[in-house]
Amino acid sequence: MKLPSLKIRNLEAKFPVIQAGMGVRIGVAELASAVVKCGGFGTIASVGMGDVERGKTHFVEECNEKFANELKKAHALLEGRKNLGVNVMVAISNYEEIVRTAIAGGVDYIISGAGLPLVLPEYVGDADVALIPVISSGRAFEVVVKTWLRKYNRKPDAVIIEGPKCGGHLGFTMDMIEHPETCSLDILLKDVKEVMGRYDIDIPVLAAEEVCCRADVEKFIKMGFDGVQVGTYFITTEEAGIDRRSKQVFVDAKKEDIVVIKSPVGLPVRVLKTPLVQRVLSGNREKFSCPYRCLRSCNPAKSLFCIARALLATWEGDVENGLYMVGCNVDATTRIYPVKEFFDTLEGE
Ligand SMILES: Cc1cc2nc3c(=O)[nH]c(=O)nc-3n(C[C@H](O)[C@H](O)[C@H](O)COP(=O)(O)O)c2cc1C
Repeated sequence: MKLPSLKIRNLEAKFPVIQAGMGVRIGVAELASAVVKCGGFGTIASVGMGDVERGKTHFVEECNEKFANELKKAHALLEGRKNLGVNVMVAISNYEEIVRTAIAGGVDYIISGAGLPLVLPEYVGDADVALIPVISSGRAFEVVVKTWLRKYNRKPDAVIIEGPKCGGHLGFTMDMIEHPETCSLDILLKDVKEVMGRYDIDIPVLAAEEVCCRADVEKFIKMGFDGVQVGTYFITTEEAGIDRRSKQVFVDAKKEDIVVIKSPVGLPVRVLKTPLVQRVLSGNREKFSCPYRCLRSCNPAKSLFCIARALLATWEGDVENGLYMVGCNVDATTRIYPVKEFFDTLEGE
């Protein structure tokens, strides 16, 4: 089949693919701009951009500055092309500031999940930016829609449904994660469409879970989705921002190495069983102090590890101390490759 283009608000991409805004520093300007040039939607992950040392005393300013620089870099690489967006996690303590920095930085869309983005339209105001909530149930989608309509007279411009097998933080209970067939994407799509019908909303619906080839994109289009969001399969691209040693960890990993643990974000998170995770699973608390409180829900006195430090360690290639978030399809990441190779397979019939 010929793949359809993806239209969101006044934007259109040749292929129905959004690159997931993976933090920390995986979804950077190089990856997002390469994806846009290949015909997709490219997303910068806004979390964890700031320098740790300066962040100790100037957390909000430091995060804003570094994030704004990354947006500038992406715009320079894109030379006027549209379809650049950002991912902002509701769970971060500087959510409002980062959203406002994104708007000032001229992004085309904002994806927001890891919590319900109920106040997002307030911070966006009348800026011409597409708003895309991430949800994992029809109920969560309805809460977002109802709140946005009532408080801001605004509808989402698209919605991303994250399934129980996807990478990173998961909006499901442990019980549901162990029984993914009870909350599979076809079930969730039906629930979301039902809400769309009741609220008279006609927007693109994207599937996020285990997409790593053209056949996966076609599968979700045939299921009734308008497109997909790709995470794990883009971690081992040349353009992803993390150190090559960390990319190699994903290349070498097998499905059996995956485990779901409780994250300081307050949600389950799917990760590789690397040395840090093994220490955490045996109940050991990593020594750390927290000068900045980057997450609303994290209690540093109780958390077994600092997720910000762990994700920065991944960025640096420090395999002993890094946290390697991953989706169930890690077996598909068998090499480090330019992201264009994925998009080339989407051409033609
Ligand atoms: C390493 C990694 C980092 C992620 N970071 C974020 C993030 O910063 N914000 C977010 O909303 N989702 C994040 N996610 C989830 C992705 O946005 C995406 O929905 C998911 O990875 C899709 O499933 P897949 O990995 O099976 O393709 C992350 C996922 C991974 C694997």
